[in-house]
Amino acid sequence: MATHKLLLLPGDGIGPEVMREVEKIVSWFRKSGIGFETETDLVGGAAYDAHKVAVTDAAMQRAQDADAVLFGAVGGPKWDAVPYNVRPEAGLLRLRKDLGLFANIRPAICYPALADASSLKREIVEGLDIVIVRELTGGVYFGEPKELVTLEDGSQRAVDTQVYTTGEIERITRVAFEMAKTRRNKVSSAEKSNVMKTGVLWRQVVSKIHKAEYADVELEHVLADNAAMQLVRNPKQFDVIVTDNLFGDILSDIGAMLTGSLGMLPSASLGAEDPKTGKRKALYEPVHGSAPDIAGKGLANPIAMIGSFGMALRYSFGLIEEADRLDKAIANVLASGTRTKDIAAPGANAVGTQDVGDAIVRELETLR
Ligand code: IPM
Ligand code: MG
Repeated sequence: MATHKLLLLPGDGIGPEVMREVEKIVSWFRKSGIGFETETDLVGGAAYDAHKVAVTDAAMQRAQDADAVLFGAVGGPKWDAVPYNVRPEAGLLRLRKDLGLFANIRPAICYPALADASSLKREIVEGLDIVIVRELTGGVYFGEPKELVTLEDGSQRAVDTQVYTTGEIERITRVAFEMAKTRRNKVSSAEKSNVMKTGVLWRQVVSKIHKAEYADVELEHVLADNAAMQLVRNPKQFDVIVTDNLFGDILSDIGAMLTGSLGMLPSASLGAEDPKTGKRKALYEPVHGSAPDIAGKGLANPIAMIGSFGMALRYSFGLIEEADRLDKAIANVLASGTRTKDIAAPGANAVGTQDVGDAIVRELETLR
């Protein structure tokens, strides 16, 4: 039996709680005959507390050796005062950078049962199915110089640098077009070419790749601020949105809320395909953060984390039937009304994190 090596990095806040529910799902698939092997390590504030770094070299090595990394969440007020280079988020950024995970895929799907949980009107979000393809290893997150310096007069000056090269834009553009071809054949590229040079280059490169390789896919260019507005005005006009690291961070939080809750949105971060093995490095994480306010209370919605494992089944292991079954199980559980507080129907009783995980396992059993 082939074995798939998973590295679990639960992290901080609600990370460990939602990861425990994924472990139930992994065990279920293992019992049904799929060879998953799991290892667990620390990341974020948890790693800082134990080792004074946001991720250890040993954990990085395990991530390099794994077939897929499942990542919970990092950060929280407890680590507000730690040095910037070892703050919890630095662990996640190192994983993305060192594993070369340039393509972040964030699908926003509004489950029929949840159309009323969105803060937008039902007709705006019902049936929504879009994907945000976010560039993840470039842009202002990593550009140099990145510094905070004290000037002679005692005031301070902070600099972040937005940088993109042709190659970085080309590869993320191809991911978006390939994705669109399997869907509704439309790509919307979001940048700020009206004020940023990186936006000018972004638009040029996307147009060039479109013309040369994907002329049969519809392409539109949207300014990123307008994209944010259109996402809340009429999100169903989009199919695939491709954008840079920072705009993608922001637009995907909007995407998440369209679906009802930040607790619903999974994501996949993928590297380039290894020409020899055909494999990609991959990390799967919920779009939500560590939610310190509800951590440890068993209130967190584990669906974004479980859905992220579903994306691992699909993208890392080619287990399409299994991924479909898991998605179906999630949809059925939502439809049955078993929901955490963030998405509970008005007046309905909310259940806890573990109840949702257990219900999804039961549903998987029924669907078998
Ligand atoms: C995300 C998060 C991260 C980001 C943080 C935790 C560094 O917001 O994955 O969207 O900004 O990329
Ligand atoms: Mg974010």
